[in-house]
Amino acid sequence: MSITAVASAFPQGFVWGVSTAAYQIEGAVDADGRGRSIWDTFSHTPGRVYNGDTGDIACDHYHRLDEDLDLVAALGAGSYRFSLAWPRIQPDGRGPANRAGLDFYRRLVDGLRARNLTATATVYHWDLPQALEDSGGWLSRETAERFGEFAAIVAEALGDGVERWITINEPWCAAWHGYGNGLHAPGQTDPGAAAAATHHLLLGHARAAAALRAASSGTVGITLNLAPVRPGSDDPADVAAAQRLDGNTNRLFLDPVFEGRYPDDMLEHYAGARPGFSVVRDGDLQAISAPLDFLGINYYSPALVVDPRNVERARSHGLVPQRAEREPATEELGVVRVAHAGSERTAMGWEIEPEALAELLCRVDRDHAIPPIYITENGAAFSDYVDPEGRVIDEERIAYLEGHLAAVARAIEAGVDVRGYFCWSLMDNFEWGRGYSRRFGLVYVDYPTGRRIPKKSYAWFRDLVAAGRSVPVA
Ligand code: FCB
Repeated sequence: MSITAVASAFPQGFVWGVSTAAYQIEGAVDADGRGRSIWDTFSHTPGRVYNGDTGDIACDHYHRLDEDLDLVAALGAGSYRFSLAWPRIQPDGRGPANRAGLDFYRRLVDGLRARNLTATATVYHWDLPQALEDSGGWLSRETAERFGEFAAIVAEALGDGVERWITINEPWCAAWHGYGNGLHAPGQTDPGAAAAATHHLLLGHARAAAALRAASSGTVGITLNLAPVRPGSDDPADVAAAQRLDGNTNRLFLDPVFEGRYPDDMLEHYAGARPGFSVVRDGDLQAISAPLDFLGINYYSPALVVDPRNVERARSHGLVPQRAEREPATEELGVVRVAHAGSERTAMGWEIEPEALAELLCRVDRDHAIPPIYITENGAAFSDYVDPEGRVIDEERIAYLEGHLAAVARAIEAGVDVRGYFCWSLMDNFEWGRGYSRRFGLVYVDYPTGRRIPKKSYAWFRDLVAAGRSVPVA
């Protein structure tokens, strides 16, 4: 499809952007009074992160701020989504702000304004101060209260420069990778803990949303990672397995935020898991379901599942079980993730299915009274390399983005109110448990030198945004 054809499917005023997160790009972990986060601890624990990689240096964005903001500006993007490192601002997660930490984000926000870009700030993208983890982390209700205080500090200090606030990025990952299957910091493996963390993260969202509203004129939302979950066959056991994973992945977050209740089947499923949802107190769900200005959705891939008893049968139908590390929290849920043999995948092993994004958007719109949506992350890792001419020709990423944008356009056409799209990611970075082995950027980062090399997809995205601007108003 031509770039103009893709661009013309989006309304005037549609926000184009790129996303990053603090721990994945900043490095400078000891600079200017920054405290330790759970990701510092986790990445320095042998065996946790691929190759023993850490975020100590990462893209050294902390020292290359202007260069990186220039890259966003040269894309012609309208907005930049970044996250605030809590341990830079409150080194121990409580008490007065560390001025130097706030100053960095002040420079960032001012740098965006000077370049005519709006700021979309994520308040929490997983780097919990270690001191708070030491007193219980997200298993403790106190952490939600401390998070509300942190949000009040940043709203006060940066509130005039941020157009969109995202309280929490992907509470599912923070809770279920962090406390359920141990793939992320702090690395616990207990479903009862993950369920309690889910609630406290959502409560933290509620406290932060209230604090942000009180001190900033920016709009406020939350970002959820959502995915259509499909059964591998119409066998009732597979259908029930898909229903369970859908409950854990999607409804466990959509229902409390938009309906003020946890789904009955999930409450039942985790009834015996301690502390689980016994941590919910009167009034919590009312706070969690307070109206939002927007919903951020991160989408990468759909999920295909079967009941554990049907794995062999699924195999004979061309469905292959995914590696165990691709089965977050699934064992306990009684589901096995599978993929079509020979299907198109990214370097993460994630199946590429743009249509699932349109399906997801329509479903969320149908099932809930939701505010406008922003796609706050979408993108793909491929085995990018710098060729002898110094170029990174990433045609697969361009195809991925084009396919997914066409899906977003179909959802808009079907009546879903999608206001913007942020590509993950501006540049290659520390991909959590996979370290530096997975590249998601529009810009290639040569880690030993820190050199930034815009990939072919960067030019493609830039041309798309430019074409969008020149599409005549209908
Ligand atoms: C999402 C995270 C983001 C990045 C992408 C690939 O789950 O929010 O930080 O790692 O996946």
